[in-house]
Amino acid sequence: MRVTTAVIPAAGLGTRFLPATKAVPKELLPIIDVPALQLIIDEAVGAGIEHIVIVNSRNKPAIEAYFADAPEIIEKLIASGRPEMAERMRALGRDVRVSFAYQHAALGLGHAVGCARDVVGHEPFAVMLPDELMGSSELLGVMCDVCVSSGGSVVGLKRVPRDEVGAYGVIDPIGDINADGVVAVRDLVEKPAVADAPSDLIIIGRYVLTPDVFTAIEHLKPGAGGELQLTDALRVQAGSGPFHGVLRDVRRYDTGNPVGWLSAVVELALDHPQYGPAFRTELRRVIGEPNL
Ligand code: G1P
Repeated sequence: MRVTTAVIPAAGLGTRFLPATKAVPKELLPIIDVPALQLIIDEAVGAGIEHIVIVNSRNKPAIEAYFADAPEIIEKLIASGRPEMAERMRALGRDVRVSFAYQHAALGLGHAVGCARDVVGHEPFAVMLPDELMGSSELLGVMCDVCVSSGGSVVGLKRVPRDEVGAYGVIDPIGDINADGVVAVRDLVEKPAVADAPSDLIIIGRYVLTPDVFTAIEHLKPGAGGELQLTDALRVQAGSGPFHGVLRDVRRYDTGNPVGWLSAVVELALDHPQYGPAFRTELRRVIGEPNL
């Protein structure tokens, strides 16, 4: 068995990034020259995912448009001698299967994942929050392996300073983290008060879930912030079978807010094979730092 489906909840309003996100979905904001959503899909494909399920809102048709055929653009690129870009455009939405499900009301992450139930079917699947860029497929790949070998759900983890845990889901670990960064999970709590947090290990936006989570989602009651929280459905799973976390010291950019987005763009641009050298020179000029 392999994990081949990933759900990307993308129906959010992007209020942290207004007014840019009034007309452009935050998932399509560019990271240099590609939409953030494409980097999430590249990460998924690198971890063996073959089918992407985007949970969209009817108010964000630009996301579907990104995957639609664009013969007029391809023709133009070929005519102007840019066959590589023409090929890149042709591959969008073709090198991986992309399906859509719809969330009609912003009732929470648990509800959003539940909207993908019929498209996912009865198999383990990944959930990838598109605000969070990981920069590599390694974490998700290991999480898929742990789900297959343990038969239970898996969450991606990062250690943060104690005073930051209140903004996240936090796990209650059983025993030590092993040499591969894998730890068993007894319980999880969404956005605890710092004093009540069971650890400093937060859930980052990567999950690999067994399909019984849909039953737990169906029975969810409003939790933290009055929302139907995915973390509360995961508590049910952790209480009844194997459940693990995988800890990685990933860079993790939160591109859903302006400063996180800027950090991602600047850091990735400095390393970019095409734009990096010129951008570095320009940035040195801007900040007056000769050693950058
Ligand atoms: C969501 C999850 C939370 C997780 C976080 C990661 O929270 O509910 O458990 O730690 O994503 O970014 P949100 O950021 O939507 O409030």
